[in-house]
Amino acid sequence: MNKDLLKLSDLNKDDIIEILDLADQLKYELKHDIPHHYLSGKILGMIFQKSSTRTRVSFEAGMFQLGGSGMFLSSRDLQIGRGEPIEDTARVLSRYVDAIMIRTYDQEEVETLAKYSSIPIINGLTDEAHPCQVLADLMTIREYKRKIEGLKVCYIGDGNNMANSLMVGCATLGMDIWVACPKGYEPMTKYTEIATERANKENCKVVITDNIQEAAKDADVLITDVWASMGQEEEIAKRKVIFKDYQINENIMSIAKDNAIILHCLPAHKGEEITADVFEKHSEEIFDEAENRLHAQKAVLVKLISKTNLRG
Ligand code: CP
Ligand code: NVA
Repeated sequence: MNKDLLKLSDLNKDDIIEILDLADQLKYELKHDIPHHYLSGKILGMIFQKSSTRTRVSFEAGMFQLGGSGMFLSSRDLQIGRGEPIEDTARVLSRYVDAIMIRTYDQEEVETLAKYSSIPIINGLTDEAHPCQVLADLMTIREYKRKIEGLKVCYIGDGNNMANSLMVGCATLGMDIWVACPKGYEPMTKYTEIATERANKENCKVVITDNIQEAAKDADVLITDVWASMGQEEEIAKRKVIFKDYQINENIMSIAKDNAIILHCLPAHKGEEITADVFEKHSEEIFDEAENRLHAQKAVLVKLISKTNLRG
């Protein structure tokens, strides 16, 4: 595994499977009150330039359960907010903490932080990637379906950070991934290319289409996300028009397999990308997925922090 987790393509198939296996073990240990202080005394710095419920709480709780602690660092309070270069922040924080989780806008910023840090950097969401969420999604799919290879996953909505990471994650593990999005809102080409290359190796498919019916037909897993992501607030009205048909509803569910599951990274805008009744019908899966953020991220923390130990 690399020093950092900046995007899902930093992980190969073996890395992902190792993380998912460890996540299952950590989930079992937590549920059975088995102590698992694998990161005793370690500190995770958590930089947030955007809002968060799941990422913040699951990382902080996860570090505590592993015997360490998480330190919430709002960019409003850090000197980054007053212009201190990310390169310098990286070199300073590397002297104090054992890893950094960062949620921000520009992927470039996360890459720079990693370049100048001697400690692991974990991407907790950027405009172009959300690797921790997709690890939790893969864990949830494996839990519900008891297998991974050969499944058909259908993502409906914006070709955003979730779509970019999901395509790579599904293709790496040998699942067909169909992304249904309006023309002009496709995932980024560089991630489509990586996903396609990995899919070719695994004998599965990456399909980008604007045909929702074709994408959802016989799907084992349906996934969606908000039509307007954080930072796109000014486009909300315009996007409501463009995306109005890109919704998981009863009609779409009737096209998918009878035992199809639904995942949503949350927060959900019910009545937009998913109807309220379909959301409630599949809430068990969706909240299991949210829970799995905790277990999957704990696995990432254990793998990265216990491997590097490079403070200073
Ligand atoms: N899914 C997700 O990343 O949620 P938060 O924005 O609440 O962290
Ligand atoms: N695409 C969404 C995901 C939120 C977890 C966003 O970036 O706002």
